[in-house]
Amino acid sequence: MRLTVIGTGYVGAVHAACMAETGHEVLGVDVDEERVAALAAGHPPFHEPGLSAMLQRTVAAGTLRFTTSLEEAARFADTHFVCVGTPQRPDSGAADLRHVEAVVDGLAPGLREGALVVGKSTVPVGTADRLAPRLAVSGAEIAWNPEFLREGSAVQDTLRPERIVAGVRSAGAEARLRAVYAPLTAAGAPFVVTDTVTAELVKVASNSFLATKISFINAMAEICDVMGADVLTLAEAMGRDSRIGPAFLSPGLGFGGSCLPKDIRAFAARAEEIGRGESVAFLRQVDEINARQRRRTVDLAERFTGGSFEDRDVAVLGAAFKPGSDDVRDSPALAVAEEVRRRGARVRVHDPEAIDNARAVYPELQYALDVTKACEQADVVLHLTEWPQYRELDPAALAGVVRAPALVDARNTLDPQAWRAAGWRLGAPGRPRLG
Ligand code: NAD
Ligand code: UGA
Repeated sequence: MRLTVIGTGYVGAVHAACMAETGHEVLGVDVDEERVAALAAGHPPFHEPGLSAMLQRTVAAGTLRFTTSLEEAARFADTHFVCVGTPQRPDSGAADLRHVEAVVDGLAPGLREGALVVGKSTVPVGTADRLAPRLAVSGAEIAWNPEFLREGSAVQDTLRPERIVAGVRSAGAEARLRAVYAPLTAAGAPFVVTDTVTAELVKVASNSFLATKISFINAMAEICDVMGADVLTLAEAMGRDSRIGPAFLSPGLGFGGSCLPKDIRAFAARAEEIGRGESVAFLRQVDEINARQRRRTVDLAERFTGGSFEDRDVAVLGAAFKPGSDDVRDSPALAVAEEVRRRGARVRVHDPEAIDNARAVYPELQYALDVTKACEQADVVLHLTEWPQYRELDPAALAGVVRAPALVDARNTLDPQAWRAAGWRLGAPGRPRLG
């Protein structure tokens, strides 16, 4: 089939490449000319395992092309995936839909009778119903097919999704989406068909549930800190209950990234708009608990530097919002690093992938290309993004480099015995007996 993918960021670039890989002829569209040129040359503008090779393969095969022209897109295919950003509005928690609306309005005049515009962007419940009339004038239809991929495993998540949700307004739209995803459903991907409102809600409800799980375990970490209990053991024992499950119960610095924080705020704002604010009022608490973990990490680090950051050297391990990604949008690690710097410390940040992106947002932090350099003469080391390579560090060797061997493991993934044996003082959220 011929498809277009409009908006070639994290979601769109991966979707376009994967659709081409599974046998479709795909045109990717973006307003960002530099991005289009890079993608056309097979270079993704971000780090995502497997994407570069797939882009190069499909571009070379001629099944994937890129353009900046929406008019060309409208002519090229009858099925269009909309993957543009839906950021938080600067004046409120609500979602800013201007990019989605620009694409729908830009496509509409050029669409052929029977065209299907499929939203993948995360939007407030009711968006498809509101936009449908703008397409109906061209004889085109709208559907919503939310995206559930995670950064760092986006290609795998797209090729082997745990579910495909098709929010449709007609049997024809369902048939079209079944045909698009036939290679994935043939390999076992479950295909859930519903209306567009339910599809939109599946997305925001899922992200809200994930965020709630993380904040729940972080709230328990706060209780553990007071009572002398151990949150890792608590999470492990809770997670062994198959009704609860171990996923998303990793306690620590909390969630960041381009989606969970903005999506829970947008959902809360949308619930207010439809008169059901109280139904998701708990999401405000989920957000507050999450913000508190950043402050708690800064406070814990400050205790290790004698109650003040003035004239101290602080090493930060990790800048990306999660390991496996170079994305620093709403990165908890960088928020902590910046607050420590603001309170008077010299802060040197290490990250295996995200240094360039971090520097662009936080130019006043210092950056180091290797961990040893970041830790030289540090008064405290903060482990803020749990890249696997940090578990391989030699605590004894690092102890010889720092000014004072003190470690805050804000992600609770380093081996406390090994670090303590090498002479380190330790602090970690929800594990008060470590120190
Ligand atoms: P992004 O910011 O990485 O990419 C958006 C792209 O859209 C950019 O390249 C931008 O230039 C382009 N764009 C903006 N306006 C355009 C227009 N009028 N025409 C063509 N292109 C335009 O965003 P993202 O992270 O890929 O997220 C996209 C959507 O998917 C959001 O709604 C997000 O919530 C949702 N989502 C993201 C993820 C994720 O992991 N990043 C996962 C699931 C869902
Ligand atoms: C998340 C969802 O997992 C995806 O399903 C969804 O498609 C995506 O948001 C989206 O809508 O954009 P992503 O943001 O890539 O994916 O990353 P996650 O693995 O969910 O991690 C999010 C944040 O939560 C990270 O900062 C991570 O460090 C943190 N986290 C995760 C915890 O603090 N504890 C956990 O137990 C799990």
